[in-house]
Amino acid sequence: MFKSRKWAIALLSCLCLTAGNLRADEGMWLPLHIARLNIGDMQKAGCKLSAEQLYSVNSSSLKDAIVSFGGFCTGEIISGEGLILTNHHCGYGAIQSHSSVEKNYLRDGFWAYSKDQELPNPDLFVKFLVRMEDVSQRVLAKFNDQMTESERRKAAETEFVAIKKEATQGTGFDAEVKPYFDGNEYYLCVYETYRDVRLVGTPPESVGKFGGDTDNWMWPRHTGDFSMFRVYAGKDGKPATYSKDNVPLKPRHFLPVSTSGVKEGDFTMIFGFPGRTNRFLSSYGVKMALDISNPAVVVIRDKKLKLMKENMDANPAVRIKYAAKYAQIANYWKYFIGQSQGLNRLDVVDKKLAEETAFQQWADSDPVRKVKYGKVLAEMGSAFEKLRKFRKSSTYLNEAGLGAEIHTMALGARGLMEALSLPDTSKAKSAKVSAAAADLKEGLWETYKDYDVATDKKLFAAMMKMYREDILEEQQPTILTADLQKKYKGDIDKWTADVFSKSIFADSNKAKAFLAKPDAKVLEKDPAFVSASSFLSNAMTRISPQVMPINADVDRCNRLYVEGTLIMNKDAKKYYPNANSTMRMTYGKVGAYKPKDATYYNFSTTLDGIMEKEDPMNEEFIVPAKLKEIWQRKDYGRWAENGTVPVGFIGNTDITGGNSGSPVINGNGELVGLAFDGNWEAMSGDIAFEPALQRTISCDIRYVLLMIDKYANAQNLINEMKLVQTMPEPPVAPAVVPTVPAIPVADKKMPLATKPAAKKAVPSKK
Ligand code: ARG
Repeated sequence: MFKSRKWAIALLSCLCLTAGNLRADEGMWLPLHIARLNIGDMQKAGCKLSAEQLYSVNSSSLKDAIVSFGGFCTGEIISGEGLILTNHHCGYGAIQSHSSVEKNYLRDGFWAYSKDQELPNPDLFVKFLVRMEDVSQRVLAKFNDQMTESERRKAAETEFVAIKKEATQGTGFDAEVKPYFDGNEYYLCVYETYRDVRLVGTPPESVGKFGGDTDNWMWPRHTGDFSMFRVYAGKDGKPATYSKDNVPLKPRHFLPVSTSGVKEGDFTMIFGFPGRTNRFLSSYGVKMALDISNPAVVVIRDKKLKLMKENMDANPAVRIKYAAKYAQIANYWKYFIGQSQGLNRLDVVDKKLAEETAFQQWADSDPVRKVKYGKVLAEMGSAFEKLRKFRKSSTYLNEAGLGAEIHTMALGARGLMEALSLPDTSKAKSAKVSAAAADLKEGLWETYKDYDVATDKKLFAAMMKMYREDILEEQQPTILTADLQKKYKGDIDKWTADVFSKSIFADSNKAKAFLAKPDAKVLEKDPAFVSASSFLSNAMTRISPQVMPINADVDRCNRLYVEGTLIMNKDAKKYYPNANSTMRMTYGKVGAYKPKDATYYNFSTTLDGIMEKEDPMNEEFIVPAKLKEIWQRKDYGRWAENGTVPVGFIGNTDITGGNSGSPVINGNGELVGLAFDGNWEAMSGDIAFEPALQRTISCDIRYVLLMIDKYANAQNLINEMKLVQTMPEPPVAPAVVPTVPAIPVADKKMPLATKPAAKKAVPSKK
């Protein structure tokens, strides 16, 4: 049974691969291992650069043009003056923060025609990776087999502190040590963080979010998902907080922009900061996601989105205030719907079971291995069995319990409450109270900027009702059980009315008055504070003590399962660790796919396709008048191909959330596109990569250039970039040895000009 299934799967994937005409390129590789693991393969596939040109600690390399954008997205430097390109949906929060009903940059777009028009964003930062280092030996040396998971974690953390201190002393850098391969390896990342990042340009939402939630996570796609920022530094080039005297950063490297486009089969690579994947997740974990967590997230978000939309549709100011919040909730609402569909359709549980069967056989076939790994899967299964009981309430806590902003605001007052509770004899008390009050004030006013009390009130009532109805009574906070009964006879609407009429958090004037004279008694009685505290203490004192030991068990089993899997397959497969918001590189080819029977999806979309989708009656598919004119006049300038402008393309590179905004780079190290999404048929890809179906959706750089040039008339930005046009490679004469990669011909400026292109393809290790 197992054998035949494995055979069937192998045959299936091989059939699909031929259908898609692509070789799968799964993998989010660590940049410091490119030289050892990937470069041979990459050069064979069309990469003309050396490993050293991609990632180097000593000289400038491609990685120096890549930034973590705000910690949640990726951006790339595309000029010698610190110009950053990222997605529209990554810049969305910043764009929204500068928007109002009068100056609606979300609706109309925004362009800085000179640097003094660029808009500062106090909370935004970009982080450059200075270097990465394998510190596994050092961390693992602190462990022994008798340690519990929490002892391991403590020992690791102590070592992290020491490593980070050594790595950053006297540099002004920040550092981070994280576990990889579920705690089997550890790496240090050293970063330089710049905090003066200004908005330079964005198309209107009708371009940057064209297709809206309908097209989100889908191909064929026609979204111009880009926005531009600039990173500023102090006069010495070092990070500095915002000052009008700061100067545009002179980067160590920036990406030249290729106007030559891509064709089917072209090599591309993507550098970025993917957030989280779960590729080693067990069949138990997949089942729990399918049965419990995914449906829970979807049902709550469904409700939230409906309620928010009602109020947004009714009021243009609310519409702007809630735009970013709405988009964020909607994005992963659709994601989890798609993930469940994909997990089911692609039989991921069965595929995981097959891997687990192989693991078990391997473990059992050797006495030493049997001791170490023989029980791992059984123990993992029983840990997940116990976890299932708590899964729904923990999902509900984040999504619903703390889902209304009045609760998150109230939780923000905990620090102040702590300070106020210090004995009056404490000398530090008044200083601590003022500091905590200042903190709270900052958080509150950030929230109030985009807050609508009527909307939040509706959300609060709905979320509390769902929590009350859907969660096991024994796992509910007392505020929803005894208290609600006693004071309101279980009537959540009455309770909600009380919370919003009495809480200081529901009214910025009351909050202001409170902050002028903070008083513990006021907080203690504040109904939002009381309620939020009840949710929190329920989670911390009742749920968490039961869940923590189970989680520790899951962690231990995962670690051993991954360790065993790596050993078991060490000669058969190259492994990469799950995404964890550190820099990764993925490479593959541009290429089409077959989403379903009798259907074939081409690898690129065009401006003509935008006009096919145009629907003036549907806000998601409105085409701005000016773009339509450009299309009517075919005023495409240098950015056309075959009489239209390429808009999007796909390839089989391996990305996930956090990669948004990542550069798609050709074999010469030039920018050809901007990654922004994954595709519907492979939404389960974060758990299991699907070679035949999984695609990265990118915006073609020529559409970005068309928008900047013809739509915005921002030639100042075009002029800053280094545009390169690669002549098509001459056909290879039969006498030429086919393994020698062609050197780009008319490419006057080689991207990483310090090194010549590799002369010989290095044999692949695969
Ligand atoms: N799915 C994209 C991502 O997670 C976000 C796309 C934003 N567009 C939208 N219609 N919400 O990176």
